[in-house]
Amino acid sequence: MEVKQNYIPAFDENELKQVQLHISKYPKPMAAVMPVLWMIQDKYGWISIEAMKYTGDLLGLPYDHVLGVATFYTMYFKKPMGKHHLQVCTNVSCMLRGGYEIYNHISDKLGIKNKEVTADGMFSIEEVECLGSCATAPMLQVNNREFYENLTTQSIDKLIDDLRKTV
Ligand code: FES
Repeated sequence: MEVKQNYIPAFDENELKQVQLHISKYPKPMAAVMPVLWMIQDKYGWISIEAMKYTGDLLGLPYDHVLGVATFYTMYFKKPMGKHHLQVCTNVSCMLRGGYEIYNHISDKLGIKNKEVTADGMFSIEEVECLGSCATAPMLQVNNREFYENLTTQSIDKLIDDLRKTV
């Protein structure tokens, strides 16, 4: 995932069609604020103040309303995260099967704590609640998409090495 440190939010034609599709699913455009914020985060890696204003303009909402939604939900990042954002589950199943060992191993290895980013911008870490993969605990998710399951400290070392090699 490319994380832009600074950006001027702008959707292209196809993305604007997607916005309209989201709006059409609900009685009022206001209800599309979450999927539109998600589209912005997917495109730029995080949600800036300008992006919240842009979302408000698209949906005819005051900036304060968008700010309230973006800051209420932890899934929206209000600052740039790492190129590889590692979300480590420490909920019950994962905790019982070594979730904190995994979390602490990554934190120590990368020298970062919760929601911090490594100096080179490659990695960030976040402790999260259940990601719905309890049967394969402990697990983590990379960039909101890829699951890595039945983790061990050895498999974590390999994963981080592999991720470093990705362009
Ligand atoms: S408790 Fe970790 S995925 Fe459910």
